[in-house]
Amino acid sequence: MTSSAHVGVVGLAVMGRNLARNFANNGYTVAVYNRTQARTDDMIAAHGSEGAFVPATSVEEFVASLERPRRIVIMVQAGAGTDATIESLLPHLEEGDIVVDGGNAHYEDTRRREEALREKGLHFFGVGISGGEEGALNGPSIMPGGSKEGYEAIGPLLETIAADYDGTPCCTYIGPDGAGHFVKMVHNGIEYADMEFIAEAYDVLRSAGLTVPEISDAFREWNTGDLDSYLIEITSEVLDQTDAATGKALVDVIADSAGQKGTGRWTVQIALELGVPVNTIAESVFARSVSGHLDLRAAGREHLSGPAHSFTPEDKAALIEDVRQALWSAKVVAYAQGLHLIRSASEQYGWDIDVAGVATIWRAGCIIRARLLERIRSEYAAGQLPTLLAAPSIAAGLADASDGTRRVLATAFGAGVPVPGFAAAVSYYDAVRAERLPAALIQGQRDFFGAHTYQRVDTEGTFHTEWSADR
Ligand code: NAP
Ligand code: ATR
Repeated sequence: MTSSAHVGVVGLAVMGRNLARNFANNGYTVAVYNRTQARTDDMIAAHGSEGAFVPATSVEEFVASLERPRRIVIMVQAGAGTDATIESLLPHLEEGDIVVDGGNAHYEDTRRREEALREKGLHFFGVGISGGEEGALNGPSIMPGGSKEGYEAIGPLLETIAADYDGTPCCTYIGPDGAGHFVKMVHNGIEYADMEFIAEAYDVLRSAGLTVPEISDAFREWNTGDLDSYLIEITSEVLDQTDAATGKALVDVIADSAGQKGTGRWTVQIALELGVPVNTIAESVFARSVSGHLDLRAAGREHLSGPAHSFTPEDKAALIEDVRQALWSAKVVAYAQGLHLIRSASEQYGWDIDVAGVATIWRAGCIIRARLLERIRSEYAAGQLPTLLAAPSIAAGLADASDGTRRVLATAFGAGVPVPGFAAAVSYYDAVRAERLPAALIQGQRDFFGAHTYQRVDTEGTFHTEWSADR
């Protein structure tokens, strides 16, 4: 066998298969291997003529077919599947070879794997890949984390198959070890928030008596302006879908209980550990959780009273515009929180992540791609920002949207329409701009019951009050 393949892909389910085809479509010779050989055979039968594939029936054969240093992309079920695949490859690899995990791994697993492979003289890359099956085939957003030296060998290939935004690939070196998977995780956390805000916007408009086609039209219109994004675009398509069996809008026959695989939850767990407030993402995870608690909701419907989850707007067009503003403001806050989390993790782990670079590669290929990301990229490229909210064009946009956003919240609360994401975004915005927060009272309480001490606004030092004596 000649060792001629430029790159190898292990794991040929939807993602691996499409990524391998993407490499081949870009002129690379691609070795392919799957634990269960039927999948390899299927892939070659369906797509073998599209490019230069080297199918392998064993790990030995797969590794032997690759030029050195070997570049291997693993696209298997995250977790045990990734560890098992790495174990099976290790005996056949040599110093300098590069192993890429393109699955949705937890970044701590990636850190562990990177360290173990580095000790063996191998380069391990944890690579976030977003864009689903279609993106894997035609150009995903790619977030690689690993050694700079290894990136020289694998980076050009990844940049070639990535999505393109005005001639710039949506792939850039993110940082060492877990940095790439961390950024992909936060991408998904922001995605949860984006989806929740869109759902809340829909719910407010539906509660105001708009029909599903009217709401679909509003989303289509919004997609021509500042809110232009993949998720807004697909929302109008989802709303346009009619159920063949009943003739109703499909959205009315889909069970209202949202699932989750876990990346949103990971984002919130890590934010709690790092002490970074990501309340919009947390509310989005909890909103899915509430939707899934069917017993809780049945009890609520039976025992709890309140406004009827509906209202009559004075001016429909004005309401639609207010909801657009609430949606845009909340989206900006979620991005600000996600990017804050990335910056904090970067400091904690010494990753030196360039936030402008992250915004650059999210502009196309991934699920959260949006017009807003170009503005975020240029604001971060212009200089260090304490928060995205402080960027001049963003702060001005939020100020302009403030009245409309608050009207939506007041209306929703008055009408009994749950808007946890919108409320979290506005509360965060008001908290970070407040002159003084009621945290002073919390410090007083903590000192009262636990002698936890407090600081004063007028004097340096740490203070404790003998509460009963001084009252
Ligand atoms: P998947 O359903 O997550 O995984 C199936 C693949 O994993 C098969 O090739 C399977 O091999 C292999 N596998 C599972 N356990 C294994 C083990 N113990 N040893 C060796 N191979 C094992 O496939 P996918 O949807 O294509 O996703 C692949 C990865 O990409 C996942 O980590 C996923 O989270 C990530 N990802 C997915 C998407 C998406 O939109 N689907 C997007 C981005 C990232 P057999 O055929 O032998 O069972
Ligand atoms: P990508 O970034 O390419 O879209 P992904 O990270 O694997 O790929 O996930 C795609 C999206 O589909 C995510 O928002 C994911 O959310 P979860 O973390 O909730 O899974 C969503 N998704 C995938 N499987 C899902 C499921 N069974 N139920 C609900 N959402 C799902």
